[in-house]
Amino acid sequence: MKPYFTEITVKVVIANWKMNGTLDFAANCCEKLNNIKSKYKVIICPPASFLHVFQDFHHSIGAQNCYCEDCGAFTGEISPVMLKNFNCEYVILGHSERRSIFCENDDIVAKKHASAVRNGLKPIVCIGETFAEKDSWKAVLTKQLSYYLNKDLHETIFAYEPVWSIGTGQVPIAAEIETVFSFIAQFLSSSENFCLAYGGSVNASNADQFLENKAIHGVLIGGCSLKIDEFISIIKD
Ligand code: PGA
Repeated sequence: MKPYFTEITVKVVIANWKMNGTLDFAANCCEKLNNIKSKYKVIICPPASFLHVFQDFHHSIGAQNCYCEDCGAFTGEISPVMLKNFNCEYVILGHSERRSIFCENDDIVAKKHASAVRNGLKPIVCIGETFAEKDSWKAVLTKQLSYYLNKDLHETIFAYEPVWSIGTGQVPIAAEIETVFSFIAQFLSSSENFCLAYGGSVNASNADQFLENKAIHGVLIGGCSLKIDEFISIIKD
């Protein structure tokens, strides 16, 4: 089995808007982004209530979460089937905010992954250690990744997002990321069809340092993706 996508020719730039923006903001961003050509695969993940704005989008659309069932009595949830109705190609799963604020554990993230794949969505699975877990990152990642062994992962993007880096302006140095990514690649060597992105305090000043690193197949951008002109400066050819 091959550890990565057969050929990584295009790196990914994922925008995670979290629970931000307005309908007008979304429409304005959609229009601006539609005029941009990028050498990257650009994936915009707005809140679910703005997905309809992106129906004629020239890039890819992703959602920020989904439930693990197709339909039923799950008040407040959204299913992978519904996301497909909005032409979503990707779905972020297990973001650290889902894990810490909404108590999602690795089992539920794994169930969501299976359900997303079954419904033809490509999962973006977030993993990473907290500041307190910094010395035990290997154990944290081993636990978070144990479900994904010996599998065709159907173009899953694992976004390594050290929680201490999210929204803090602190980023790991290239050597640290390469150590972590080679550990993940080795750990998942029995699986295929996945790639590895980095997330945490990526902005226009540091994006190139990640995107030019051969070990990194893309970036996941939170705060800076809402500064649409700065985000465009990262992706435009
Ligand atoms: P940040 O967020 O880019 O604002 O650090 C990244 C994320 O939470 O996915």
